[in-house]
Amino acid sequence: MNLWIKNGHLLDPANRCDEICDIYIKEGKVAGIGSLSSDAEMENVTVIDASGKYVMPGFLDLHVHLREPGFEYKETIRTGTAAAAKGGFTAVCPMPNTKPSTDSPEMVQKILDIAEKDSKIHVYPVGAVTKGQMGEEMTDIAGMVKAGAKAISEDGKSVMNAGLYREAMREAAKAGIPVLAHCEDKNMVGNGAMNAGEKADSLGIEGITNAVEDVIVARDILLAKETGAALHLCHCSTKDSVSMIRFAKEQGVEVSGEVCPHHFAMTEDEIPADDANYKMNPPLRSKEDVDMLCQGLSEGVMEVISTDHAPHGEEEKKKSMAEAPFGIVGSETAYALAVTHLVKKGYLTPMQLVERMSTNPCRILGVPGGNLSVGMPADITIADMDSVYEIDKDTFVSKGKNTPFHGARVQGRVYYTIVGGEIVYQYNGGR
Ligand code: DOR
Ligand code: ZN
Ligand code: ZN
Repeated sequence: MNLWIKNGHLLDPANRCDEICDIYIKEGKVAGIGSLSSDAEMENVTVIDASGKYVMPGFLDLHVHLREPGFEYKETIRTGTAAAAKGGFTAVCPMPNTKPSTDSPEMVQKILDIAEKDSKIHVYPVGAVTKGQMGEEMTDIAGMVKAGAKAISEDGKSVMNAGLYREAMREAAKAGIPVLAHCEDKNMVGNGAMNAGEKADSLGIEGITNAVEDVIVARDILLAKETGAALHLCHCSTKDSVSMIRFAKEQGVEVSGEVCPHHFAMTEDEIPADDANYKMNPPLRSKEDVDMLCQGLSEGVMEVISTDHAPHGEEEKKKSMAEAPFGIVGSETAYALAVTHLVKKGYLTPMQLVERMSTNPCRILGVPGGNLSVGMPADITIADMDSVYEIDKDTFVSKGKNTPFHGARVQGRVYYTIVGGEIVYQYNGGR
């Protein structure tokens, strides 16, 4: 199928294109940009009227949990990638904390096989750092990369043994893939379920201090410096994480950082009660932290917006904060939360939003995409930044409905998600 996307506002940071124009897609690739005059070229074409909307290189979510295999009641590769497509993502990186965990070339292959039949968007598997994520024995990193893993991560936890992690970083550097780091010192968290401080005290809930994250961020930066590994810090939530990343970059360390929408859009003060839909790891932080995360995103110190989409069953999330699992869904709300809390508040230009959600993630992962140059695969997100509506969890296609943003008023809607020239999601009314 050939596509003619007409009159959209093209945002392509790689080509510094920020203007209204047409895009022509032929055989799954970008074939032309600008005003198309020759009607002969338009044979067999589907026309998309993109007036009043932005046309952007497809978003890549560097951090999702698709739960398959092992936790299909929470999510599957089919439902999780459909949710991502609805959110404007043309590619996702599923984390390895499945059951069994994605810790071998065979498991990486299994994820790819399921994705091949069930997913309409790209799935780039992330391999575990240690076998079974037990923190004891390193996985076959080179083998997993050969099978198709695009990164390694122990997400869900940190590798507490720094010697072992250093060895894995060396292997990752050798294989040319980044290390995606979940930063949390297991020995410091106790039963913490939300940010430590007055709010936690008032709700009678055990707290998680900033240092739980910060000490591992510091350690991992130093390990990256020593090994030369490309380090990507997941779901940064504290002001000192931002400062340390800024400092490390100044030292020439190959480090990048991601911020999730819940961490820039909400503070701990907005937790109304003991409600596990507000429980995620790392937790919602103080206003001071949130301000610094927005500042970091604005300056480009924080290069990536990713979701940490973490679906859970309804029963599990009905439990108290102390007992429920960590995590909230994010695929279907990320774009609107980013528009509402970053673009509309002046932290990011529309172009910078595209960099944080598409161009930078693609570069960090070393995969195609992130730009709409002629000849590139036609992975495209078409969305506006004006539509106003309320987030409604009952419209989610994800199996997970666990969000603290139900009822939140936002701006920005995804209209089309296109992968390899094929429309994989199209908005057709409703919320
Ligand atoms: O909130 C979270 N949920 N943080 C994590 O690190 C893990 C994730 C999950 O797997 O549910
Ligand atoms: Zn994590
Ligand atoms: Zn995660």
